[in-house]
Amino acid sequence: TFIIRSQSGGNLVNLVVVSNRVSRASANEPMTGGLAAALLPVVEKSGAIWVGSSGRLREGAQKEPFAEIEALGAGALAMLDLPAAHYEGYYEGFANSALWPALHSRTDLIRTTQDNYQSYREVNSFFARALLKFRKPDTAFWIQDYHFLALGAELRALGVTHPIGFFLHTPWPTRDIFGGVPHHRELVEAMLAYDLIGFQTDGDRDNFLSYVEADLGLEVSGGTVQSRYGAARCAVFPIGIDPAKFAAFAAKSSSHPDVSRLRRSLNGEKLAIGVDRVDYSKGLVNRIEAFDRMLTAQPQLKRSVSLLQIATLSRGNIEAYGDLQNQLAKLVSDVNGRHGEVDWTPIRYLNKGFSQTVLAGLYRTAQVGVVTPLHDGMNLVAKEYVAAQNPVDPGVLVLSKFAGAANELDTALLVNPNDIDGMARTIATALSMPLLERRMRWEAMMTKLRAGTIQEWFSDFVDALDRAHALNDTAAND
Ligand code: F6P
Repeated sequence: TFIIRSQSGGNLVNLVVVSNRVSRASANEPMTGGLAAALLPVVEKSGAIWVGSSGRLREGAQKEPFAEIEALGAGALAMLDLPAAHYEGYYEGFANSALWPALHSRTDLIRTTQDNYQSYREVNSFFARALLKFRKPDTAFWIQDYHFLALGAELRALGVTHPIGFFLHTPWPTRDIFGGVPHHRELVEAMLAYDLIGFQTDGDRDNFLSYVEADLGLEVSGGTVQSRYGAARCAVFPIGIDPAKFAAFAAKSSSHPDVSRLRRSLNGEKLAIGVDRVDYSKGLVNRIEAFDRMLTAQPQLKRSVSLLQIATLSRGNIEAYGDLQNQLAKLVSDVNGRHGEVDWTPIRYLNKGFSQTVLAGLYRTAQVGVVTPLHDGMNLVAKEYVAAQNPVDPGVLVLSKFAGAANELDTALLVNPNDIDGMARTIATALSMPLLERRMRWEAMMTKLRAGTIQEWFSDFVDALDRAHALNDTAAND
């Protein structure tokens, strides 16, 4: 009964969606991780089986992968206990200390070992074995993100001939940068086992294809790579949100205690908001420096604007993340110490998460949304901030040109996050933008958000996977 109908009205498929982190939190509970929060509502409706990690580990060799399965909307959630001997090497050691830094063009932060790589491959093969349990004749597998670059190849090695798609939520860097990952070649070769590889932007897909052509010497034509696995189609599917849902959350939550307390505490003062995981890719240090620079250059803004930075702690066992947490805590306290007054704090810095409903209300309270990553696959905060605005008096989005979202939200105020003075000036411009201009920019962004929702992203990918696999099937039978 795990059935979803593709939008083209074509085949009925049993869809199995796989991601490292899964979520069953409702919109009223704090969310962890952009991917899981974004997928939950669509996966729930689709009737797919969503497979991921349970967050629990098991010692010793597991004959049979253990999954706790519960109902999720029209489908099910299957949470796997992962092998204790390999989890750390897989998640911290390779996925987040080799792949994540490289995918965000920070090869200087790569710290990994051969054992970590082995653990990464072990966990990919462990998931593949577990997925066999969910295989039916018409199953399609859709694997999410960089934790599972090799999962498609592991499934093929087990004899799986079903459609298998992959979507990368992060950027894909230039070929010289990806070449900085240990075992980069094996990993990309393994990726070619997927029928369809989805990217957030044209730039990401083009970087991938140029690696495949130049470094692997494979034939690429019309976005399709030919390898020993057959054809892997590479295409772009920018992930979206449900803008109507965010708008409804924002309107509804204005009376939520967190939102009304925030509004009262501002006393007419303006607010800029940032919401991020504490991650070096998010440009948090640059953003706080820009806010500091703005208050120094334009002291008349003191007391008339403050920054609410929600910064959820993430991947804290990894040195680069621990260092960044300390650096940010010190920087915020330094800025508050220099610019603060007995009755005014320039930066409210919170290391905790909020539910989507409360976040929507906080976004709507802020006249400026600051989303300034150094590199980001898409950045859904940018889209959520826009969708949560009051249509008659919308706020202004200040957006890094290095976020995937900048391709669509091109009427935001686009900034280079490395240009601290430029960002400082742009935040000040946003604060004083006249209503007419704010409305025009906001309308144009809403039109884009309505044209590319998460529901469309989901069904477009499944349709394209169906087609890509059908072409591979036809070629194999020729
Ligand atoms: O795509 C971004 C991403 O890495 C997701 O895969 C992940 O769920 C999210 O960020 C949060 O990261 P983590 O799961 O490591 O806390």
